[in-house]
Amino acid sequence: MINVRSNEWVKCTVIMCIMMFLKTEGLEEVGITIIQSGIAKGAVCLDGSPPAYQLAKGFGDGVSNWLVHIQGGGWCNSVQDCVSRKTLIYGLGSSKLMTPLNFTGILSNEKEQNPIFYNWNRVIMRYCDGSSFTGDVEEVDPATSLYFRGARIFNVIVEELMNIGMKDAQNVFLSGCSAGGLASILHCDKFRGLFPTSTRVKCIADAGYFPHMKDLSGQYSFETFYDQLVTLHGSAKYLPSECTSNMAPGLCFYPQFVVPYIKTPIFVLNSAYDTWQISYIFAPNESDPHGEFTKCKTDLNQCSTVQLQRLQDFRAEFLDSISVVGKSSSNGMFINTCFAHCQSESQQAWSGNDASKLDNKTIAEGVGDWFFDKSEFRKIDNEHILPHYC
Ligand SMILES: *[C@@H]1O[C@H](CO)[C@@H](O)[C@H](O)[C@H]1NC(C)=O
Ligand SMILES: *[C@@H]1O[C@H](CO)[C@@H](O)[C@H](O)[C@H]1NC(C)=O
Ligand SMILES: *[C@@H]1O[C@H](CO)[C@@H](O)[C@H](O)[C@H]1NC(C)=O
Repeated sequence: MINVRSNEWVKCTVIMCIMMFLKTEGLEEVGITIIQSGIAKGAVCLDGSPPAYQLAKGFGDGVSNWLVHIQGGGWCNSVQDCVSRKTLIYGLGSSKLMTPLNFTGILSNEKEQNPIFYNWNRVIMRYCDGSSFTGDVEEVDPATSLYFRGARIFNVIVEELMNIGMKDAQNVFLSGCSAGGLASILHCDKFRGLFPTSTRVKCIADAGYFPHMKDLSGQYSFETFYDQLVTLHGSAKYLPSECTSNMAPGLCFYPQFVVPYIKTPIFVLNSAYDTWQISYIFAPNESDPHGEFTKCKTDLNQCSTVQLQRLQDFRAEFLDSISVVGKSSSNGMFINTCFAHCQSESQQAWSGNDASKLDNKTIAEGVGDWFFDKSEFRKIDNEHILPHYC
């Protein structure tokens, strides 16, 4: 969509016009919808502001299909962390600070860039609770005025989408990236249950498969993070109950422990060298007191031979952790070795000319074939073993 007022066209030189065209070409502008009625239901962001989403209407033969994409952005596991989130950019703790996100990659309205989902109703569920939409605590501490209500936000946004047409959908895809990808897994069965069995409903987690594994120093240091998160946000009752009746709720935040209980088809899109996981699960600062991994974590060219070997050990453990996904033939996966985090939102990674391919298919093609049952798609890149930039 080109959004330049006509008097500006007159003023600008040919070169400027071309530059403006290139910059705005293909970027659909999608405003933010605030759900004011969420407040009465206690479905609010960390700061008490109402929940929000962005919707781009479907067109052509996509009008009765819905893609609901859950925004990511980490979590907060302590009161102090959640307080500071209230003022974060992108409104990660408050809808008052939200600015529109771009619809790119899996959300793009261009057929060439997004061959399957381009004309669907496409939604970004905006993230402002810090718990992957699992929190539900009634009390509000007057000292901090923090609300832990992520699960209610999920319900209220989905309810609104149902009311404006999603209940009659033919095909529905719940997706998300990072903390949003994890939310897609955790909410998948409950979401599926809202539709008749005749509706095709599937879920995809992009960079949301956070593994339970030891860090560089041999400790499960990240485990504490999820334990604290689940306690602070009162998440346990929104996690799949077959899982929480078998193990600590904090562990049920890990896909590898919860996926065996999920019945709806799930697609795991993840790099075996996910940059976020490497920085915060495998080589967090506390496991690396001399900062030996600091440079390698963010720049592959700075990794020593020994560090590249450690990263390959990480990959092997990651692959172990996803073996449960392959146990159901209805699940899919695209596991490459790009040094990246969140590939479905990036035009280049999703379907670009040099995008990574497995079985000769881009991520967009593999996911599309799997969604429509054209073929199974469970591929792990065993050709490019080393991490690399894609
Ligand atoms: C959206 O795209 C525009 C144009 O490329 C860019 O300037 C802006 O920073 C993008 N916004 C976000 C939130 O990524
Ligand atoms: C880890 O250490 C690096 C280098 O000292 C620093 O830049 C970074 O902010 C630290 N990360 C965290 C999460 O504390
Ligand atoms: C890969 O796909 C391209 C384009 O779809 C096709 O031209 C090519 O023959 C395929 N290569 C293999 C090895 O299947």
